[in-house]
Amino acid sequence: MTKKRKILLISGSTKKGSTNNQILQFIALRYRNTFEFHFLDDIESFPFFNTDLNGDFEPQIIQDFKKSVKLADAVIISTPEYVFSIPGILKNAIEWAVSSVAFTNKPLGIIVAAASGQKALEYLELIMTTIQCQIAPQGKLLIQGAKGKLNEEGELTDPIILRELDLLIQTL
Ligand SMILES: Cc1cc2nc3c(=O)[nH]c(=O)nc-3n(C[C@H](O)[C@H](O)[C@H](O)COP(=O)(O)O)c2cc1C
Repeated sequence: MTKKRKILLISGSTKKGSTNNQILQFIALRYRNTFEFHFLDDIESFPFFNTDLNGDFEPQIIQDFKKSVKLADAVIISTPEYVFSIPGILKNAIEWAVSSVAFTNKPLGIIVAAASGQKALEYLELIMTTIQCQIAPQGKLLIQGAKGKLNEEGELTDPIILRELDLLIQTL
């Protein structure tokens, strides 16, 4: 039996019942036979990025984060848009990884589930390609009017979104 590829799931939302968290849960369920999924569930506990703490003085939680990224065969980030950009907690986590090779050549799928979300998707792609992630043309998914796209069970049901999600997953 071939070993399942490991996918690390990162949400940009800390909200209880978050749309983006529900989407990641849905992904973990929908593709469970193909991949082994791990959730990164502590980015709101990361200290603010500080170059003085980079390197030898790096907090354990940050070392663990980088290790989780390195161990993953691929990563999916799903995030809301906040004031035309990505949420601060997500940007903070990425800043910790900039001076490392944790994300270098890592296949990445990016999802923005928001009211509109176009800017966040553009920024996230720019940021993550800058740190040398591999994002395929079909590795990006924008879910606009996100709250209305999940049913009561937290499932995506729109056939166009599901098709785009299947294509995104295939890029990983
Ligand atoms: C502080 C704040 C700023 C927001 N700014 C934007 C925005 O600029 N563009 C947008 O499309 N949605 C914006 N939203 C709406 C969220 O992106 C949207 O509610 C999203 O579905 C929340 O995702 P979540 O349920 O996973 O937290 C904002 C929400 C908050 C709380």
